[in-house]
Amino acid sequence: MTFARILGTGSHLPGNPVSNDDLVARGIDTSDAWIIERTGIRFRHFAAAGEQASDLAVPAARAALAAAGKHVDDLDLIIVATSTPDWVFPSTACIVQDKLGNRGAAAFDVQAVCSGFVYGVTIAEKFMRSGSHRCALVVGTEIFSRILDWQDRTTCVLFGDGAGAVVLASSDAPGVLASDLHADGSYRHILSTPGQICGGSVVGSPYLQMDGQAVFKLAVKVLGESAQSTLDRAGLRVDELDWLIPHQANIRILQATAKRLGLPMERLVTTVGHHGNTSAASVPLALDLAIRDGRVRSGHHVLLQGVGGGFTWGSILLRM
Ligand code: ACO
Repeated sequence: MTFARILGTGSHLPGNPVSNDDLVARGIDTSDAWIIERTGIRFRHFAAAGEQASDLAVPAARAALAAAGKHVDDLDLIIVATSTPDWVFPSTACIVQDKLGNRGAAAFDVQAVCSGFVYGVTIAEKFMRSGSHRCALVVGTEIFSRILDWQDRTTCVLFGDGAGAVVLASSDAPGVLASDLHADGSYRHILSTPGQICGGSVVGSPYLQMDGQAVFKLAVKVLGESAQSTLDRAGLRVDELDWLIPHQANIRILQATAKRLGLPMERLVTTVGHHGNTSAASVPLALDLAIRDGRVRSGHHVLLQGVGGGFTWGSILLRM
């Protein structure tokens, strides 16, 4: 039986950290105390003008390839999860492929907003298990600062830019132990950027809109259910989990999810305080950090969880 295994991770954050007080200095009607109390966010990073999602993805991908001991020519599959692509088309995956110098790998984007990375790894795993592909790059990369309405203090303080990447290869041992993906499009209006390019202009809104309380309640519910069903599928108990790495939207969502699962907060990797919500990049950024600082080690059981616009959600259980 062929499995998929993560061999290496990498990440990239643009520019310098931007503090809550920096946002106040830029004229946003908010405060450090409000943002920390409601979200746990202290800093986020913003891409420079002209920097694109592919520009953040490439250094993250190179770091993941180096950590995996793989050459760019070894890749036969490139999946990029993003809601802030470089262009309408072609896919950011094709642009990343060209910038990395790979020719011939299958390359496509996944649009599942903040669940995109979990969707991407799950898809890559199916390719590996089928035997059709042997070495995949999956990147989550976002420049959400481009779609924020800076007049809307309820959303603009929450998000940041960044990229995280993993290299997966087929293996005789797992790897990915179980996965779980879901969506419910009837909730599409609680978190959306409901615009489109039409006849040379934007029709609808080019800005992110959110019903924060609806997102909060739904996120906690589906993350708890998805974690449990993924663990059940692999025959693992919650107390056998070494690390939970959920989408980093808000510290209170993370705390509520941990409580629902009966997992101490010490077993969660949390980066939201320093990165803000980086959408599809948040899970691979946190995974890379926790591997590089030695928390996540070989043999550990790690549950990755995504949740976001769509509404979409999902989990992947890994043995590292
Ligand atoms: N600074 C200061 N005051 C603010 C700010 C701000 N940035 N934003 C809102 N307020 C004020 C509001 O105007 C309101 O004032 P009022 O009482 O005088 O009317 C007050 O704070 C409370 O506003 P609410 O919207 O009710 O605030 P709430 O407690 O719901 O917190 C938040 C908002 C943090 C967004 C919360 O709903 C939440 O955590 N939602 C989860 C959604 C989330 O994190 N989404 C991230 C993206 S989704 C994803 O990634 C899955």
